[in-house]
Amino acid sequence: MALARDARRHSLLSKLATNDSHGENSPYFDGWKAYDNNPYHPITNPEGVIQMGLAENQLCSDLIEDWVKRNPKASICTVEGVSEFKDIALYQDYHGLPAFRNAMAKYMRKVTGGRARFDPDRIVMSGGATGANELIAFCLADPGDAFLIPTPYYPAFDRDLRWRTGVQLVPVVCESSNDFKITRFALEEAYDKAQEDNIKVKGVIIANPSNPLGTILDRETLTSLVSFINEKNIHLVCDEIYAATVFKQPDFISISEIVKDDTNCNLDLIHVVYSLSKDLGLPGFRVGIVYSYNDNVVSCGRRMSSFGLVSTQTQYLITAMLSDDEFVDNFVEESGRRLASRHKVFTQELAQVGISCLNSNAGLFCWMDLRPLLDNASHEGETALWRTIINEVKLNVSPGSSFHCPEPGWFRVCFANMDENTMNEALQRIRTFVSKSKKSAKSRRSRSSLRLPMCHLIRMLGPLIPLFVMRLLEAILAMVMHI
Ligand SMILES: Cc1ncc(COP(=O)(O)O)c(C=O)c1O
Repeated sequence: MALARDARRHSLLSKLATNDSHGENSPYFDGWKAYDNNPYHPITNPEGVIQMGLAENQLCSDLIEDWVKRNPKASICTVEGVSEFKDIALYQDYHGLPAFRNAMAKYMRKVTGGRARFDPDRIVMSGGATGANELIAFCLADPGDAFLIPTPYYPAFDRDLRWRTGVQLVPVVCESSNDFKITRFALEEAYDKAQEDNIKVKGVIIANPSNPLGTILDRETLTSLVSFINEKNIHLVCDEIYAATVFKQPDFISISEIVKDDTNCNLDLIHVVYSLSKDLGLPGFRVGIVYSYNDNVVSCGRRMSSFGLVSTQTQYLITAMLSDDEFVDNFVEESGRRLASRHKVFTQELAQVGISCLNSNAGLFCWMDLRPLLDNASHEGETALWRTIINEVKLNVSPGSSFHCPEPGWFRVCFANMDENTMNEALQRIRTFVSKSKKSAKSRRSRSSLRLPMCHLIRMLGPLIPLFVMRLLEAILAMVMHI
């Protein structure tokens, strides 16, 4: 009945509306639902789910709020700013305010430590990096074409790059044995596999710094990526949305810094995606951009950007904020300091209970190694552990499988979207859970050490007792020992 109803409803809609390639049927999004249904609150719902699956940067919201208070003219819905209201409320063209693009270009230069320059005329606006990634996929690839993408990768790339464009993603398998580095070997392997499957590869997409790893790509890896895509004559898209979240050495290296000195690189192949969602902690403002070195992509992207412009009111406010050099310099420095301190406390506390994380220096999360807590080293084992963590420990962390991590047991845990008290509550729950898990692992071990001799005894008695009695004894033994 329900199936038939579903099928009837689906036939009313387009294939796009009813297909599943948005990738939202994953524990990554299920975890958010679990949180939405029962959100933690220290007073009204202290047993609720703590959200550790959202890469949000709330650590410097106070600095932004202070700036907004000090600059009431920048918000046009204020007494001080209302004289600009009419102009801003009317249509603007899709190039974006020139002052906004200048301010973004200047800010991006700052984020690269002044080592790369950005031309404001190459900036194309979009609704966050989500819109920017889709826009670049639409510009570079046809339905059925593919991008290579190193694993583990941000789960919503499946939605952003694939769903409406019809583009495919081919994983470049990276492994924990070398800290998930992107090697030339892995790139070639993925490329060859796509060729064998008759899939046309149009480019490579990377997130640098990485979500979920929180690591940055070194100069050598970036240079090798640039030579790989040039040899194959395919595109390189670098999502640098976490550029200013790098909180300790080594420094972030933008792809723009690499290609500016590389005379062999065909710049038409290089594109950067950026947004203010993570670095400034403003995901609600939906300020994203594509920065392309390819003139045709810039002009086509502009036309497409009509579907996802940044509101002029937001452009106006952001222009004023990013043009305030003193504020920006102080913000970037302070944000790095607060992220470093949060990351340090968090990872040290995890280490106290024997949980290690991949060594990282960027991002709003850790890549936590829970392999020792798996009952069995498989994706099923990982999902079972995730269910326990979400349902019993009441923490929404995201399992590696949702990031397409081939090795089970890795989890992403976000640490910058909560206040200190909530983090301490989360850490307390983790401590309790790990100590309980250790105890039950110990008792499982001792139960199974008892089980063997008992099984042997039943088997030795085998010839003396009827088969059904032996099966009954085995079943009772399994029930008593939960095995
Ligand atoms: C790597 C990466 N790209 C893009 C996005 C989407 O960002 P935005 O909120 O600007 O759309 C995210 C958000 O988590 C991300 O981690």
